[in-house]
Amino acid sequence: SESAARPVRAEIGVIGGSGLYALLDDVTEVVVDTPYGAPSDAVFVGEVAGRSVAFLPRHGRGHGLPPHRINYRANLWALHSLGVRQVLGPCAVGGLREEYGPGTLVVPDQFVDRTDGRQQTYYNGLPLPGGGRPEVVHVSMADPYCPDGRRVALGAARDCAWEPVDGGTLVVIGGPRFSTRAESRWFAANGWSVVGMTGHPEAVLARELGLCYTSLALVTDLDAGVESGEGVTHAEVLEVFGRNVDRLRTVLFKALESLPATRDCLCSHALDGLETGLPGV
Ligand code: ADE
Repeated sequence: SESAARPVRAEIGVIGGSGLYALLDDVTEVVVDTPYGAPSDAVFVGEVAGRSVAFLPRHGRGHGLPPHRINYRANLWALHSLGVRQVLGPCAVGGLREEYGPGTLVVPDQFVDRTDGRQQTYYNGLPLPGGGRPEVVHVSMADPYCPDGRRVALGAARDCAWEPVDGGTLVVIGGPRFSTRAESRWFAANGWSVVGMTGHPEAVLARELGLCYTSLALVTDLDAGVESGEGVTHAEVLEVFGRNVDRLRTVLFKALESLPATRDCLCSHALDGLETGLPGV
């Protein structure tokens, strides 16, 4: 539990997806409250290669939270408040191309938001809780993912002999249902690569706090519109994620080791010139 004398801090955050409920062995469990309510679970802080890492299970430990009920604002706020400035976001996705079968690792460089009314901002015309002046803020989302984080994630996967897909578009649906065949075919026809339920608003909220965010999308199934796809079940998603979770953990550890200790990426400058009152880099 958190010691008042020496508050637990972390520099890197990992938000674990379906099937990734624990990452580190020797952890301090920190219960964090936020102005937006409670995060998905306690935050588990430990060390990897000398880096302090905060792990947060996105769906809660027992997978009690479906994608549309996750308090994304609380999750990112909690990580930020612990000192986290770089976030890795592994997630399960469906493949929208025949060649992106189960077990494919995609490091997307774009997303499309097809969710329905999720809270996707901290800036509602009021100063941030405990913060400074800005009331209206429009962050750039042209390049939603951290270029340094993506490079590190791709390198980490290659080091593990798991050739990743470099780039592509993650379309995020509201869920919790899977897509119809028509929706899925439409996503694929638009050139989008994979489909998930949690990538948005995670990346947006990270950017609004000046955090780096990198998505590591593990394909667990071919989505319904792909010719050979049978349609998806949640059991299948969990089963395939489980089969890949060891090598995903290895990739994450390698990435944690290789993330730059200081930042000068576009994410680190996202709030330049704004008096957010948030502690800086
Ligand atoms: N997560 C895992 N597989 C998925 C799919 N086919 N559609 C949406 N989210 C997913």
